[in-house]
Amino acid sequence: MPKATFLGHSCVTLTDGKYNLIIDPFLTDNPQAAVKANEIKAHYVLITHGHGDHVGDGIAIAKRNNAMVIANYELANMCGAEGVNIHPMHIGGGHNFEFGRVKLTIAHHGGGYGPDASRYTGPPVGFLITIGGKTVYHPGDTGLFYDMKLIGEMNHIALAFLPIGDNFTMDVDDAVKAVEFLKPRKVVPFHYNTWPLIEASPKEFAAKVQGTEVVILKPGEAVEF
Ligand code: NI
Ligand code: MN
Repeated sequence: MPKATFLGHSCVTLTDGKYNLIIDPFLTDNPQAAVKANEIKAHYVLITHGHGDHVGDGIAIAKRNNAMVIANYELANMCGAEGVNIHPMHIGGGHNFEFGRVKLTIAHHGGGYGPDASRYTGPPVGFLITIGGKTVYHPGDTGLFYDMKLIGEMNHIALAFLPIGDNFTMDVDDAVKAVEFLKPRKVVPFHYNTWPLIEASPKEFAAKVQGTEVVILKPGEAVEF
C-alpha cells in the first residue's frame, strides 16, 4: 500500500516503497514542519505554485537529491535556471513517470515568487498523482470550484488533501462541498493553523463531511491509501 505523510502546512510526501515524492516542500520557516529540509530523501519534487509557503525548500531538496522538479512550465523553468532537473507540464496535461502518473488540474489562486511575490511563475495548479495504482489529489491552494465535480467523476480518488484555513483558500464549509464533488475514499485537511490568520478546526470539518473517511493528521503522521 502506498503511504502519504503530512509534514505540515501543505507539505506531503508519497511513497510506494521504491519512489519518494515530496509535494510543496515548505519546511524551513514552517512552524508546523515535522522534519528538516536536509533530512528529506526524494526522487521527485512537485510544486503547485510559486508562493514561498509552497516552493519552500524545493530547489535545495532537488539539488541535494538530484531529484526532478515537476511543476507548471513557468515555475519548472524558474527552478531549472537554478540548475535542477525539471519536467515542465501544464494544466490538463498528464505524463507517465517511473512511479506512475501526474496530471495537472486548475486551481483558483495566485502564483508570484520572491519576497514581494512579483516574479511570474504561471498559474497555480493542483496535482492528480497516481502511485502504487492509487490516485491522490493535492489541489495546492485553491478556492472551491465546480470542476471538482468533473475531477471526481473522471478519477477514483483514494486520498485527497484539502485546504480548510480560509482567507487564502477554501474554508471548512467549502472544503466539505469539495468532498461532495470529489468523492475521495479518504480526505485529509491541511493548510490550516500554520499561522493565526488561517486558524480552522479539523474536527468541525470531520463532523460535517459525510460519506468519506476524514483522517486528521498531525505533522509527521502518515496514512496508507
Ligand atoms: Ni499560495
Ligand atoms: Mn499557501
